[in-house]
Amino acid sequence: MQTAGRIVREGGLVAFPTETVYGLGADAFDAEAVARIYDVKGRPADNPSIVHVADMDAFRELTPNVTPLMERFAEAFWPGPLTMVVRGIPEIPQVTTGGLDTVGVRMPSNKDARAFIKAAATPIAAPSANLSGSPSPTSAEHVLDDFDGRIDAVIDGGRCAIGIESTVVDLTGDVPMILRPGFITREDMEEQLGVKVILDPALNKKPGDGDFHPKAPGMKYKHYAPKAPMIIFEGEREDVLKAIEDEKTSRELEGENVQVIVFDEDQELLAAKELFAELRRADKEKVDMILAAALPQKGVGFSIMNRMLKSAGFNIRKV
Ligand code: TXA
Ligand code: MG
Repeated sequence: MQTAGRIVREGGLVAFPTETVYGLGADAFDAEAVARIYDVKGRPADNPSIVHVADMDAFRELTPNVTPLMERFAEAFWPGPLTMVVRGIPEIPQVTTGGLDTVGVRMPSNKDARAFIKAAATPIAAPSANLSGSPSPTSAEHVLDDFDGRIDAVIDGGRCAIGIESTVVDLTGDVPMILRPGFITREDMEEQLGVKVILDPALNKKPGDGDFHPKAPGMKYKHYAPKAPMIIFEGEREDVLKAIEDEKTSRELEGENVQVIVFDEDQELLAAKELFAELRRADKEKVDMILAAALPQKGVGFSIMNRMLKSAGFNIRKV
């Protein structure tokens, strides 16, 4: 951890585990180091990075005014898989914020993440540690598959416990707005805080729909895409399983290598944990086609389906 912290202070890039996915981190105040993250990821410059902190004091130094609402979100969900979008201080480099006057801040709970941020003794700007467009990494091996030889270090903390990225909630308006759904759901927020929370309307649309203007810049980009085409089967479970089996059989007769991704409808935590690893496995095994079963879009299922639909380029087959 001391070595990793030193690398960051010297301007290097360190990938590290969090409870959601691995991040590719640099000193959030070192514009040159953050620019290198964008370079190795091939990430568009307008897509801001989340800034990771280990304690509330560090959070207070990033935003001009910590409101009572922010305090309540922090109390309820930090440390944990939640990112708050708040006004940022002007000293945060433009490359970190994607040129916005807001900043996304997260205090992760993973013990390695916390030890690393403390050792670095500076806020850590970190997007997910994958090549732009690819599924997020949930193990150190995934990180090396994308970046071996191109970053300075990776902290191997094993598999990520949650497996999908943090919930991003915008607290700059009158009503908290979820920009990216995650493990912490709208229902969790409303129940635990007794406040109304809305969803970015773009979350119920797709690219190509008339007014698709997501408020999180990253949500407009192609994402989570495996190399193979993917179809999501939606309908009654029994019909879905049968349709997938039939499709698989006929494709295999044509000589195709088919991967099936089916999670039980009530196993959403397992689905979150395994989804990106399954997509990456499909790439490694060079499959020709991925056939997946839709999950019910409630609770964490909504967040998982948000990722799966993007992976499949919104290729849905209703059965
Ligand atoms: O779980 C996670 O959030 C992981 C770990 C490493 O913390 N990070 C992650 O970062 O998923 P990334 O860069 O892959 O996704 C961050 C998302 C993007 O959609 C980005 O546009 C949005 O958060 N975001 C960050 N700062 C923002 C801001 N100031 N305003 C609006 N959206 C913001
Ligand atoms: Mg990402």
